[in-house]
Amino acid sequence: MLQSYRKIVIDRLTGEFRSSTRIVEAPARPPGPGEVLVRNHYAGVNGIFDQNLCRNTIRYVDVVPPYDMGVEAIGEIVALGDRVENLRIGDAVAIVKLGCAYREYQTADVARLIRVREASPEILALIASGVSAMVALERIADMKSGETVAVSAAAGGLGQFVVQLARRAGNHVIALTGSDHKAALLRELGADRVVNYRTESLRDVLTREYPRGLDIAYDSVGGEIFDAFLDHLAMYGRLIVSGHTSDFDKPVEDVPHPRIYHKLYWKSASVRAFQNPAFPQYFDDAAHRILDLYYRGELRALVDPTPFVGLESAADAVEYLLAGRNAGKVVLRL
Ligand SMILES: NC(=O)c1ccc[n+]([C@@H]2O[C@H](COP(=O)([O-])OP(=O)(O)OC[C@H]3O[C@@H](n4cnc5c(N)ncnc54)[C@H](OP(=O)(O)O)[C@@H]3O)[C@@H](O)[C@H]2O)c1
Repeated sequence: MLQSYRKIVIDRLTGEFRSSTRIVEAPARPPGPGEVLVRNHYAGVNGIFDQNLCRNTIRYVDVVPPYDMGVEAIGEIVALGDRVENLRIGDAVAIVKLGCAYREYQTADVARLIRVREASPEILALIASGVSAMVALERIADMKSGETVAVSAAAGGLGQFVVQLARRAGNHVIALTGSDHKAALLRELGADRVVNYRTESLRDVLTREYPRGLDIAYDSVGGEIFDAFLDHLAMYGRLIVSGHTSDFDKPVEDVPHPRIYHKLYWKSASVRAFQNPAFPQYFDDAAHRILDLYYRGELRALVDPTPFVGLESAADAVEYLLAGRNAGKVVLRL
């Protein structure tokens, strides 16, 4: 019987991941009724979220050390508690839950588990970021077909799925990235127009090539990209705020602009925010459909090829993401 395992906790709040966290040994707890013990194989890395936890700036979490880290994991059931039906030892399962992932094992409530075919990094990317992209596009952005959809951080963990799902629904997709390498990946994923914002002006491209404007602008970068998206919304356009990576670690900027209603009212346009924990009611259905698309070969899941192995590599993985170096989902192999 497993006696103990290792996990990452926030030990003190320094404002950055590496110095805030440490690896500790935790006693293993046998699964109780309705629970299973899972050996985590991969954890998803959410660099900005992780760093924000180390600042205690996630508004729906109060971080009191020691605080368990990691949001999504995929692994294999190694022990069953009483009254567990339809699951067996060896089954692959995924879970999205605060504190469940940067650890070698977890005792999990079966109601929180998603049974999957294999415990691979691609399935983890789909269950975490793919589901978010699908829910945000369908439920928040009211995505239709024949629309023009722009997405920032398009080659990132979540952006890659926004690109593909919007394209699959019959939309024209403008994908933003900051590197030529990622630009090539985005073309492979089907993006119609790729904009490397370091070598061409997003505003110029939108003015010149998209005078009708954007029906959906999906933004997780913020700053100047958000401003350009807002100024280029089409009639009935929807600007989705899914993060603000470019300024998450800076003091809030006071931007002298006309009030936002001057930009929205005459177009009946809107700005809508998407935070995935606010929409759990849509997750199961989206997980089912996104896996189905993947297994039918209609969706790809890009996982960044840089290997991060073991809990000791978590800080490297977080810093890699914060530096914007990733192409696809960053995962930690446990
Ligand atoms: N809405 C939600 O529910 C939800 C859930 C999880 C995460 N998030 C948010 O979504 C955003 C993306 O998170 P993620 O961890 O999945 O990352 P990611 O999208 O996989 O990667 C971040 C990408 O953002 C781009 N980027 C642009 N400006 C950047 C900057 N100043 N610094 C670093 N990267 C920059 C980089 O790509 P390019 O070089 O190609 O621009 C980078 O690869 C974060 O803001 C996070 O807080 C939201």
